[in-house]
Amino acid sequence: QSSTMPKRADGFQSVGTVAELNQKGQLLNKQFAGGSVLVVSNPANPKTITAVKPICTHRGCTVDWKADKKAFVCPCHKAEFSLDGKVLQGPAKKSLSTYIAKIEGDSVLVKA
Ligand code: FES
Repeated sequence: QSSTMPKRADGFQSVGTVAELNQKGQLLNKQFAGGSVLVVSNPANPKTITAVKPICTHRGCTVDWKADKKAFVCPCHKAEFSLDGKVLQGPAKKSLSTYIAKIEGDSVLVKA
């Protein structure tokens, strides 16, 4: 179950569990800071996680994480973004927004 916990005093919000993240290598939460957040584990180092706002900067489609390409890929016009949100391939020109993310116990926390 991916219940959303209230924002903590330090600004971090629980967006899911480590088990959920490990199961798929990614975790999408649509109730984060008034939008959605996509957390992925770095294929090269699964202990490292990255969180982005999964909204393509071209026309706003929701991007997918492709672990085999190590990239976020937009289904609409095939823009690609790196793990840290930078544009790898157009037509998008601006990076995806990123958030600070960390693991604490069995919770995945993201700072709004
Ligand atoms: Fe993502 Fe066009 S909306 S590439």
